[in-house]
Amino acid sequence: MAKAKPEMTRILRIKKENPYVKTITLDMKMKAEPGQFVMIWLPGVDEKPMSIRSSNENLMITVEARGKCSEAFTCLKEGNSIGVRGPYGKGFSHVKDCIMVGGGIGMPPLMNLSESMDGNMRMLQGARTKNRLIFTDRHDMMTATDDGSEGHRGFVTDLLEKEILKKKPRIVYTCGPELMMVKVMEICKRHGVGMEASLERYMRCGIGICGSCVCGKSIVCLDGPVFTMEQLEKNPDFGKHALSRSAKKLTLGEYYGGKE
Ligand SMILES: Cc1cc2nc3c(=O)[nH]c(=O)nc-3n(C[C@H](O)[C@H](O)[C@H](O)COP(=O)(O)OP(=O)(O)OC[C@H]3O[C@@H](n4cnc5c(N)ncnc54)[C@H](O)[C@@H]3O)c2cc1C
Ligand code: FES
Repeated sequence: MAKAKPEMTRILRIKKENPYVKTITLDMKMKAEPGQFVMIWLPGVDEKPMSIRSSNENLMITVEARGKCSEAFTCLKEGNSIGVRGPYGKGFSHVKDCIMVGGGIGMPPLMNLSESMDGNMRMLQGARTKNRLIFTDRHDMMTATDDGSEGHRGFVTDLLEKEILKKKPRIVYTCGPELMMVKVMEICKRHGVGMEASLERYMRCGIGICGSCVCGKSIVCLDGPVFTMEQLEKNPDFGKHALSRSAKKLTLGEYYGGKE
């Protein structure tokens, strides 16, 4: 059973993925499913949900410096200690005949899923520019950048449409900016392909108590973060609204713009 109290652990290794993103390997083992997350606690700073990048051997997380807490995570050094509790939430299903579509820091749980199965899969990654891409050493990865500095110039969803026609997958797994995932869902519906998406909402407890992460009638930390297309179609807040840290209902634009 997942622990509700953080367990302190040491950072064994830190790998720089790009100028903004680091992968941290911890001196901790954990039995977890791809798509599940852990709560990472930095004493004196904050506690944040992070997707499990890998739990095959030691627990790994990948962090992008975005605000106060994530920046503090990326400034940590090997040997420093942090608190970990989890794993929490529901992960992805395991259908090997699939395409994965990730944007930005949505890539780590998809990498974890892809490493847990050796099947007929294709990874698609979108980013603003080349130096924002991560994990590009994968041989089955295709990339799209807004400015055309690497791969396809334009949206990663342009690649998805073509790959669905070519590979005829049974399912598409996605994690990243919510408007990208809305587009992925539209494309999957049009082509009769299944889809699962991992949602990001502001989280505090991570275990279904505080209500910070409510999205429609779903509690994202408990019912998700991974939801099926059928669940998302019925959710009035998917692609539209999110609760701020002070529990105000904001449009996604306001939420990602940092408006309280
Ligand atoms: C289930 C789950 C899994 C997650 N997994 C990861 C992970 O693997 N790696 C990781 O780095 N983060 C992950 N996150 C996000 C992470 O928990 C923090 O929300 C994020 O690091 C920002 O926290 P902060 O305190 O640094 O910034 P904040 O102070 O909360 O925000 C700083 C600024 O960034 C903006 N911002 C916040 N979130 C986003 C966003 N998603 N897109 C664009 N702008 C944003 C805010 O609006 C604000 O302007 C996950 C979140 C959830 C719910
Ligand atoms: S984070 Fe508290 S209910 Fe989800």
